Amino acid sequence: MKKIKINGGKELKGTIKISGAKNSAVALVPASLLSDGIVTIDNIPNISDIDALNEILEFLGAKVSRENDRMIIDQTNLENKEIPESKAKKLRASYYFMGALLGKYKKVEIYFPGGCSIGARPINLHLKGFEALGAKIIEKGNKYLIEADELKGNNIYLDVPSVGATINIMLAAVKAKGLTIIENAAKEPEIVNVATFLNNMGAKITGAGTSEIRIKGVCKLGNGFTEVIPDRVEAGTYVIAGALMGTGLKIENIIPEHIESLTLKLKEMGMPLKIYDDYLIISKCDNMKPVNIKTQGYPGFATDLQQPMTALLVGANGTSILEETIYENRFQNVPFLNEMGADIIIDGRKIYVNGPKKLSGKEVIATDLRAGACLVLAGLKAEGITVIKEVEHILRGYENIIEKLKNVGADIVLVDE
Ligand code: EPU
Repeated sequence: MKKIKINGGKELKGTIKISGAKNSAVALVPASLLSDGIVTIDNIPNISDIDALNEILEFLGAKVSRENDRMIIDQTNLENKEIPESKAKKLRASYYFMGALLGKYKKVEIYFPGGCSIGARPINLHLKGFEALGAKIIEKGNKYLIEADELKGNNIYLDVPSVGATINIMLAAVKAKGLTIIENAAKEPEIVNVATFLNNMGAKITGAGTSEIRIKGVCKLGNGFTEVIPDRVEAGTYVIAGALMGTGLKIENIIPEHIESLTLKLKEMGMPLKIYDDYLIISKCDNMKPVNIKTQGYPGFATDLQQPMTALLVGANGTSILEETIYENRFQNVPFLNEMGADIIIDGRKIYVNGPKKLSGKEVIATDLRAGACLVLAGLKAEGITVIKEVEHILRGYENIIEKLKNVGADIVLVDE
């Protein structure tokens, strides 16, 4: 079993370069199969979620080549086959094969997706969208059969602005007949990245990044190119590392607007932070003010940064209140932070972080991806050795996390024991 060991308390100085966004890449790769030609995607992060998608594409008959951060996918010999459960269950984003295969072949038989257990995570809105486009859905045990004689554009209102449902409906609608309008769509930058890619292949999508997306169906999608946007959650995680232990830590290859809800909170806390066009520089601060945070869809405070942020709030001078509105089970990092010396009280969807408290190294468990990121951050700050178990969760979403932190001064290793 792989573990991460951190000897905490080391100052972080130098440069961390941000990789391509996991949550964009995991949608772009399945989206590519709507093409009948060859597509190229640059800035693909080297994470295990992408390896899992790669396996699925190859299983379906695509020819995939990866060199550095470029992925070239030849879709000319693709077949619509049932993806084995073991492959579908490896990650959440396997659900994008529903929209993509339905859009291309009007039929898909697929197992329920996997992913971090951070709440119920229903996909009713994805299915509602497919039905509105004319598909019939049959639930057979732990898989769905989704089929349509013809996909026809429609107006679809999302009860919740879900990222996954917005993207999946776009994928199913690009080749549907007529106009599809998604109302109350999610506005995350990853959705813009996917829409731009589909348009590059020949789709006609407007309004991505706003709450109303319009998709005019086209008959065929051809060759295409795109570049994955920088990962705003990875960027945010390292910005928080800088707030904890930085002495002029530079975080480069970022789009500052994408992490503004975080950087504004850090400024409210009094952090010394300088933001430039595509990088920022951050240092720790001895007297951090507490803040209140409520997670929301973009451009609100990202739920994916809520757990990493908790590691920082532990050291603030007073009580911070953090409210999680997206997922019902995203506080699994809290008991471990408390074991390390934090004073955090969970009250339903809110946590009260009473600071300032000092952290000391302990053996802890990465219960999910962002809980794991939080514990890495806590370990960087803590006195002594922190050992994090079940780190596969972390490696699914952070490219070269060990090397990136080691290069800026952290005492961190990945051990297999
Ligand atoms: N929801 C429904 N019905 C649906 C879909 C969603 O009720 O059909 C609810 C969810 O239960 C949740 C809310 O809507 O309460 C938002 O969920 P959303 O669909 O937006 O999340 P997602 O698409 O499953 C993606 C990211 C998550 C990220 C969220 C929110 C991927 C693969 N996952 O999930 O990333 O937290 O958007 O930004 O893109 C992570 O990276 O750690 C992660 C969990």
